[in-house]
Amino acid sequence: MKWTKKHIISINDFSRDEIDFVLEKSGILEKKLSSSRTSSLMAGKILANLFFEPSTRTRMSFEAAMKRLGGITIGFDHPGISSEVKGETIADTVRIVSGYADVIVIRHPVEGSARLASEYSDVPIINGGDGANQHPTQTLLDLYTIKKEFKKIDGLDICIVGDLKYGRTVHSLTNSLENYDVRIRFISPQELRAPRQIVKSLSNRGIEVKETTKLNLKNSDVIYVTRIQKERFPDPQEYERVKGAFILNLNSLEGIRDNAIIMHPLPRVSEISTDIDSTKHARYFEQAKNGIPVRMALLCLVCDIKF
Ligand code: CP
Repeated sequence: MKWTKKHIISINDFSRDEIDFVLEKSGILEKKLSSSRTSSLMAGKILANLFFEPSTRTRMSFEAAMKRLGGITIGFDHPGISSEVKGETIADTVRIVSGYADVIVIRHPVEGSARLASEYSDVPIINGGDGANQHPTQTLLDLYTIKKEFKKIDGLDICIVGDLKYGRTVHSLTNSLENYDVRIRFISPQELRAPRQIVKSLSNRGIEVKETTKLNLKNSDVIYVTRIQKERFPDPQEYERVKGAFILNLNSLEGIRDNAIIMHPLPRVSEISTDIDSTKHARYFEQAKNGIPVRMALLCLVCDIKF
């Protein structure tokens, strides 16, 4: 497995062995974190965060991960303060920043932008989300959360609820699940069904996939809820028609498996009622916290830091 200078662009670039390796390495760093909150593994290294779209978790957890590893961060959290506003291209921005930093995390609204960036960078590029396409580091922390809970991924019943059309976390997660022996139920409004090629690809890999418009959460181990991605709708009226299509509240949990967990990549708007936060099923805040060890592991791996 060659990690040095590996760009992290799409979860489809990862084999099952590579995913499992990242999860194992994340576990090692999480244990290290519990005994000491900081380390010097990345001392002298610089992470550049190039965020052309808003973010709380991805940007701040990469920043926290780098700082806890003894490295430092530079970058911007809003395109309005970069030279993009003067017309600079992604290619030129990345060429320049790769001369300033050892690793770059980029989030951009255009699908394929992280792949494009990787073609102009001398240092590893990590995709922090490109449009509705991919969010591979979110997927790795999602899988880490699932594996931490159930000690396995194979054999689980996973239902994915909400905006399956525009949700990049859904696209990455379902792509990754092709590597495992799981059963998937997609729950969404008709207009926001999962892309046909995702469903077809899962079926071709022998994965049982069901699609429904009814919010039936029974017989699931993992209930993965997503926000309707308002910012991706070309027609605001279409958003108005589907917003609030599914709202999980305590009544929705009736009859679910005793050990079922509810996940959400966050931010949530109204799709999970706050009553659920204090139930034994809620895992979305832990899930976000798991971003730290997973992103620490990824930073070390792409920068060839042994741990
Ligand atoms: N899950 C996620 O990507 O959150 P942010 O948009 O806050 O980074």
